[in-house]
Amino acid sequence: MNIVLLGAPGAGKGTQAAKLIEEYNLPHISTGDMLRAAVKAGTELGLKAKGYMDAGDLVPDDVIIGLVTERLQEPDTEAGFILDGFPRTSAQAVALDAELSKLERPLDAALLIDVDPEVIVGRLCSRRMCRECGHIGTVADATCPKCGGEMYQRDDDNEATVRNRLDVYEKSTSPLIDYYRGCELLVTIDGDRDPDVVYADVKEALA
Ligand code: AP5
Ligand code: MG
Repeated sequence: MNIVLLGAPGAGKGTQAAKLIEEYNLPHISTGDMLRAAVKAGTELGLKAKGYMDAGDLVPDDVIIGLVTERLQEPDTEAGFILDGFPRTSAQAVALDAELSKLERPLDAALLIDVDPEVIVGRLCSRRMCRECGHIGTVADATCPKCGGEMYQRDDDNEATVRNRLDVYEKSTSPLIDYYRGCELLVTIDGDRDPDVVYADVKEALA
């Protein structure tokens, strides 16, 4: 199963990806997670990416395309993968198509998780993440419900940055909805329901 998860910041891509990974044991390729790991490790990539991420702007295409292209060469992706947060621009979508056609591994679906922007602002300002296991939770989780680790707030989860991320999504990423509709790969899922109800539709879309 080769899947792209599309959707605005906070739509629930990471939440749904976690459920898919648990059930299907596929690698989760989240460019946001890869960039945050690079920032934490202080690598050259992290230093380059941090300013863009903190402002809620996109990291340049050439940097991201190289990162994902390299990741897709790894053998664990041969049985399938879940791309989360990539592609995010037309150039990234075209580069992904070219890479997957070279690897003879076409996409099976692009799942759009659709949520109203005002719902998203509330969600992201109250999101908390586990420092230990990466679990995605909310401000209601004093410690991680999965591993007991410390919960923290992402640097880009403040209202001003969230609103910029939503503007950037509208301008640069939402055109990909038509791109994947044109390839007959798009399935739209109402993401403004209980996460398990959303997941039931995700599974149905992949059946
Ligand atoms: P990235 O990490 O990809 O962030 P994002 O796209 O902004 O999306 P989020 O991770 O914020 O949201 P999500 O959809 O995963 O929602 P989640 O499941 O966590 O990217 C960060 C930055 O990196 C970018 O701004 C950019 O700078 C850079 N970057 C990354 N990829 C790039 C690329 N390809 N090109 C260029 N730059 C790139 O859920 C959110 C909250 O809602 C949680 O609290 C969760 O518990 C809750 N929630 C989830 N589902 C539900 C539900 N159904 N009902 C109620 N609450 C829910
Ligand atoms: Mg995410």
